[in-house]
Amino acid sequence: MSTVTKTVIPVAGLSTRFQPATKAIPKAMLPVVDAPSIEYVVSEAAAAGISDALLITGRGQEAIADHFDAAPELERALEAKGDQARLAKVQATNDLARVHVVRQGEALGLGHAVLTAADHVGEVPFAVQLGDDLIDPRDEILPAMIAAQAELGGSVIALMEVPTEQISSYGCAAVEPAQADALGADVVRVTHMVEKPAPQDAPSNLAMIGRYVLGPGIFDVLRSTPPGRGNEIQLTDALQTLAQGGQHPVHGVVFRGRRYDTGNPLDYLKTVVSLGADHPDLGEDFMTWLRSFLAGR
Ligand code: UTP
Repeated sequence: MSTVTKTVIPVAGLSTRFQPATKAIPKAMLPVVDAPSIEYVVSEAAAAGISDALLITGRGQEAIADHFDAAPELERALEAKGDQARLAKVQATNDLARVHVVRQGEALGLGHAVLTAADHVGEVPFAVQLGDDLIDPRDEILPAMIAAQAELGGSVIALMEVPTEQISSYGCAAVEPAQADALGADVVRVTHMVEKPAPQDAPSNLAMIGRYVLGPGIFDVLRSTPPGRGNEIQLTDALQTLAQGGQHPVHGVVFRGRRYDTGNPLDYLKTVVSLGADHPDLGEDFMTWLRSFLAGR
């Protein structure tokens, strides 16, 4: 049994890097091969034993919750056509999680989005998953983060080694060895965090990626966190306060698996090609086409 039963998935951002594709449809509904990116995120939570998913949404994003609802007319049509394979895929999302929705009202930052989950979450640790980051289903990270939070308390963030020249695209964590050896060398104590540092100023090559297991103590800190970078209430600023306070430790789990970014058009394309190449039904034909396409360039 997982000690974490709830995940918070903020999707209410303005997606400025993906305009105009996301002017009228949510970024979380952009298809990655044959499923919207949000489905990968909710499936990841379900695979980690988390069956309660709270979406933090904005205006015009109703399609995201609809994706996890039954679609009786569509299901009857597929049934009548005898298309059992597609029917199974359509129905699989109905029961993936109990999906709840809270509206953020105004996109005042990721920290503000997480704070709107306080009433739903209550006084228990919870996961946060950012939809721009897809974790390959073959390389899970949430179970290790949940185990670390259960052992060490406080909050746990996901880290990934990146080449030094790329660290300026990420939040960067300064770390020291964690005290619990039982969890292995990939669990570290976070001493502070720097948002998008220049490579020469970066305290490490450990980038923060969009997965968190947070203690409920984060909510009080978020309530008193002023707007920071971009005039937004930043989750990283609240974590920084906790890391420096000592009462509520912040640890990091270093992820060494495959992660994909869907937050901007170029990385999104790379994600679709990577996951398309590995797709069980489409991968072989897609790769045959891709090789001949590249040979002709
Ligand atoms: P990002 O900073 O990547 O924002 O937020 P964004 O709006 O999606 O994209 P850009 O940077 O403008 O292109 C990380 C996650 O937090 C959510 C976003 O939807 C995204 O999933 N978020 C951000 C909110 O839910 N509310 C906010 O106020 C800000």
